[in-house]
Amino acid sequence: MIISGALPFNVQQAADALCAGELLGLPTETVYGLAADASNATAVAKIFKAKGRPSNHPLIVHVASADEVKKFASEVPAFAQNLMAQFWPGPLTLILPRHEHMATAAAGGQNSVGLRCPSHPLAHQVLKACAAKGVWGVAAPSANLFGRVSPTSAAHVQSEFGDSLLILDGGECEVGIESTIVDCTRGVPVLLRPGHIGRTQIEQACGLKLVNPESLEAEAPRASGTLASHYAPAAKVRLMSTLDWQKALEALGPHTQNVGLWSVQKPSPELMGGGLFWRAMPANATQAAHEVFAVLRNFDARGIRSIWIETPPDTPEWEGVRDRLQRAAA
Ligand code: TXA
Ligand code: MG
Repeated sequence: MIISGALPFNVQQAADALCAGELLGLPTETVYGLAADASNATAVAKIFKAKGRPSNHPLIVHVASADEVKKFASEVPAFAQNLMAQFWPGPLTLILPRHEHMATAAAGGQNSVGLRCPSHPLAHQVLKACAAKGVWGVAAPSANLFGRVSPTSAAHVQSEFGDSLLILDGGECEVGIESTIVDCTRGVPVLLRPGHIGRTQIEQACGLKLVNPESLEAEAPRASGTLASHYAPAAKVRLMSTLDWQKALEALGPHTQNVGLWSVQKPSPELMGGGLFWRAMPANATQAAHEVFAVLRNFDARGIRSIWIETPPDTPEWEGVRDRLQRAAA
C-alpha cells in the first residue's frame, strides 16, 4: 500500500511499522530502499527473503545523523570523519569496522558495516522517529528483486513487491542511482561503487587518493551492486557508439522491431517510428542519472526486447551512470 509522505501521520505510521519489525518501502534521495530495523534479525531476514538476495550480501544501515555512527562502528578513521563532515546527509555510504554485536544480520557475516545518513527529508523524518523509539539503524537495500533495476518511485517499488508492502511515497528520487560506497576499513579509502558524489570530490575531502578494489590483495567485501551483471531489465541491453546504432538501424530498416533506443543523438526522421521507440538521453550526467532506471523500466513495460544505449562519454562525471549501464548490459 502506498501512503503519502506529505502527511506527518503517515510518516509516523511508517516509523512505527519499522519499529514493530515490519518492512517498509522507504524513499531516499538515491533510490527507494526496502527497509527494516537493523537490530532485529527476524525483520532483516524478511528483507533477504522478499528480495531473493543471498543472506551473505551485506545491507546498508541508515542512520539519522553522524552521531549514531559510533553505535555501530568500532573505529572511524580521520578520513572517514572528513567524508561524513563533508557529504552527510547525502548519497555516500561508508564501510567501517563493526561493533561485534551490532547489526549482525544486516552485515551479512562481515565484520564491517555500511553506514549512510540520507538527505531525503522523509527518510530523515522516519529515521528520527525510529531513533526516538530506540531504533538507531534502519537496514535498507534498494527495493528491487535481486539483480533487477533499482526503483526511483513508489510505483516502481509496488511493481516489485505488490500491494501488501507499506510504501511511503516521497516522489521521484532526485539522484536516481545508488549511493557512492567508500570502504574505510583498509587504512586507505577504497571506491567500491561509483555514484553521484564523484572520485575527485572524495579525494579532495579525504586528502587521499582513492584506491580501486582490484588493486588490493585481499578480496574486497561482497557488494551485490558490484557483480558484473546487475541492474538488469528483462530486455537485452547493448551499449553502442552513435555510429554503431545508426548503422544498425539503417541495416534493419523497416525490419526494426521492438527496439528501444536511449541516445543523446536523435535518429534521423526516416529511421523513426515503426518498431523503434526513442527516448532522449540527457547530455548532462546528473540528469541522466536521475532518469536512467526509469528509462530501463519504461522500455520493459512497453515490451521492448532490445535496448540500445548510446555509450556515455568516458569522463569522471559519467562514471556512476556508465557503471550501471555496463552492469545492465553484462
Ligand atoms: O543508495 C543506496 O545505497 C541505496 C539506498 C536505499 O540507500 N541502497 C542500496 O543498497 O543501494 P543495496 O543493498 O542495493 O546496495 C548496497 C551495497 C551492496 O552492494 C552491498 O554488498 C554493499 O553495499 N555493502 C553493504 N555493507 C557492506 C559491507 N559491510 N562491506 C562491503 N559492502 C557492503
Ligand atoms: Mg541494489
